Amino acid sequence: MHVSEPDSTWAPTSWQTRRATQQPEYKDQAALHTALLQLAKLPPLVSSWEIEKLKSQLAEAAAGQRFMLQGGDCSENFDDCEPSAITRKLKILLQMSLVLVQGGRRRIIRVGRFAGQYAKPRSADTETRGGVTLPSYRGDMVNRPAFTKEDREPNPEFLLKAHGRAALTINFIRALVDGGFADLHHPEYWDLGFVSKSPLASDYMRTVESIGESLRFMETLTGHGAADINRVDFFTSHEGLHLYYEQALTRQVPRRPGWYNVSTHFPWIGERTRDVDGAHVEYFRGIANPMGVKIGPGVTPEEALCLCTILNPENEPGRLTFIHRMGADRVGERLPPLVETIERAGRKVLWCCDPMHGNTETTSGGLKTRRFERIISELEQSCLILKECRAHLGGVHFELTGENVTECIGGASGITEADLVRDYRTQVDPRLNYEQAMEMAFLLARLMQNGRKG
Ligand code: PEP
Ligand code: CO
Repeated sequence: MHVSEPDSTWAPTSWQTRRATQQPEYKDQAALHTALLQLAKLPPLVSSWEIEKLKSQLAEAAAGQRFMLQGGDCSENFDDCEPSAITRKLKILLQMSLVLVQGGRRRIIRVGRFAGQYAKPRSADTETRGGVTLPSYRGDMVNRPAFTKEDREPNPEFLLKAHGRAALTINFIRALVDGGFADLHHPEYWDLGFVSKSPLASDYMRTVESIGESLRFMETLTGHGAADINRVDFFTSHEGLHLYYEQALTRQVPRRPGWYNVSTHFPWIGERTRDVDGAHVEYFRGIANPMGVKIGPGVTPEEALCLCTILNPENEPGRLTFIHRMGADRVGERLPPLVETIERAGRKVLWCCDPMHGNTETTSGGLKTRRFERIISELEQSCLILKECRAHLGGVHFELTGENVTECIGGASGITEADLVRDYRTQVDPRLNYEQAMEMAFLLARLMQNGRKG
């Protein structure tokens, strides 16, 4: 474990001296205070031991031995805290990870955007409809999406509810991982009907067959179910946006130095809040968790280097992941100078591509969507660029769901712009559905396989 000197200039509250953007305004400060006091007394959701384990696995990913698959909803809803939705989220991540193992021959680190992804940054603080202006919906941790005065009022009670829902989610995830979840390893349980519609159908089926064969081989060899042989780990992550919530869950633990954010294994800083002088960077620099920073096309190489110096002054491997989200049109121009600067400076970061957030568009009907071919294009370009800069793609970050929603356009199942209205559910960003996510995993596995050969 890494031991660093205690920093007397940092405290879980020191972010309050900086400019904190994207924070809700609570009318009742006393109620906020009471909720935070309660939150600070509640048990952790994850342990420092698990956090350190993830950090060491991310260090291996940075060294090219593992690969991170991070995915889940743009924003979780309290209503989605129910068994079938949670099972489907695990199932899609597990199945994608098995496909990726096949292509990349690297162990996969599975990180869900779940058990705490309840706060959202917004482009405006308020929303106006028909002459009425109300606070924007900022995620279930803050307020409710319905456009009424009461629903949109930030409510401190929701912070406690978020902790409770996150705890229920993680509790069920742990139970599934420990118990009969192994069934989902078996390709006969996969829903791959869409595959026949793809020009790569036979390629996909061969991958699935070989996954099935390897699992059966391991089971025969050891007489155990695959889950026992290679215990599947799931880690949790969310955007560390609501700083009072994160502060209340920042703790010291027995027999380890430093402070841990015990609400999640892997918090990340969003593209809108990564200002090097801002409150979020100040908060994150003091916690021991491994962390991500989203970087979009506006980031300069100097800023990226500055983020490394502030957030990872000791250049600890596994601590810092850059989640780049440039967009398919700009990645070719924006990513190379960043990677060159960071690599030349000898800064250890894990490069993880989020091919979703730089590729969002709005249809003429007003729906936010993303196109499958642009998503895969950003992934392909990122993979090549990193290789050319003598770095490597160490992970991917997707917004996806195990349900067959219609929010993104394209893929073998042929979702068109006209299909979007059929089952468009997201309150925030559009997600890949089950079939699109599986197809993305197959294509990424091919990319990783070609990368190995190249
Ligand atoms: C998100 O991950 O949902 C998000 C808001 O991303 P970004 O910070 O990259 O815009
Ligand atoms: Co999003």
